[in-house]
Amino acid sequence: MNAVPSAPDPIARRAPAPPLAVLLELTHRCPLACPYCSNPLRLVGQREELATADWLRVLDQAAELGALQVHFSGGEPTLRRDLPELVARARALGLYANLITSGIGLDRTRLQALQQAGLDHLQLSLQDSEAAGADRIAGYDGAHRRKLALAQWCRELDLPLTLNAVIHRHNAGRVAAMIELALELGAGRLEVAHTQYYGWGLKNRAALMPTREQLQAATAAVEAARERLRGRLTIDYVTPDYYARRPKACMGGWAQRFVNISPEGKVLPCHAAETIDGLRFESVRERSLGEIWRESEAFARFRGSDWMPEPCRGCEHRERDWGGCRCQALALSGRADTLDPVCERSPDHARVRALAERESQAPAPDFVYRRPSRPVAAVDDDADGD
Ligand code: FES
Repeated sequence: MNAVPSAPDPIARRAPAPPLAVLLELTHRCPLACPYCSNPLRLVGQREELATADWLRVLDQAAELGALQVHFSGGEPTLRRDLPELVARARALGLYANLITSGIGLDRTRLQALQQAGLDHLQLSLQDSEAAGADRIAGYDGAHRRKLALAQWCRELDLPLTLNAVIHRHNAGRVAAMIELALELGAGRLEVAHTQYYGWGLKNRAALMPTREQLQAATAAVEAARERLRGRLTIDYVTPDYYARRPKACMGGWAQRFVNISPEGKVLPCHAAETIDGLRFESVRERSLGEIWRESEAFARFRGSDWMPEPCRGCEHRERDWGGCRCQALALSGRADTLDPVCERSPDHARVRALAERESQAPAPDFVYRRPSRPVAAVDDDADGD
């Protein structure tokens, strides 16, 4: 970790435009044990989670701030019993309400209740196109079957569905099959997203890194399907950073379009921001979301382009990629305030490329599963939130 010196006096300190979306990480509890989990290494325990009244206040403040969308996420957000109440508040405030779920612990009755409360859209994770591989990746027997059932209920209830498939060396060869499955399940959108190595996922990088040939085959499958399925299925494609030449505009630019709120109420520009030492993230227990968005030092630190060093400062892409990902710069180059080494102009770029080639070609180590703090079998029978 690196200490971050104070920000220059920038444009970043002018009142920023409101975020497009607020992501509420209602809980870190999760029945699945996915090795690519991007949540932090230290998870927030149930006792530290915000209470219902806190989340309701956050929703009010999100609407007041001018956000348009709210994503209920986790962990597994359906473990919170107050989810329908939160969704209803989002609907009453005119916020577009999206649920990001593993699909475990949600039956048809609960799904219908959420829809009646005002849920606009559901995003379901998909680990693979077939059960054996999917359940192995999720570390949960029967997970895939439950997901298929949930997708079917969405179809019956006419609830818009997006599938999110995280791609790595163990499923990259089945991207075409996942696209067919998305069609079968009636999804309107499929996100084919190569693994991002943050949090727990970074521990499993060598086990997950695809080869260049796998990447090329997956990309070809997506491109062919996009053409063939135009107007039937929208396919978003997130390429793997370590093989890229240009960095992604992580979160649409630090503190520009999205804001995350952790289960204990910390307001973060991204889910991995707490890995950056020297930044203090404020809590909705202490200040309003709007004040934090507009005034927090941590948000101003990398907002816009005034913080950028060379060569980002003089780069024609600086207001498209915003220097890439701060957390990845820290993880791979040891500093958060330098360019993302995914960029080919970084002195660390060749090393990152070589690392991807080396890890992907070595035999894959076993997964280090993210095991839940209690038996997964208990989740469906005892889905206790606040
Ligand atoms: Fe933190 Fe990209 S994950 S800036």
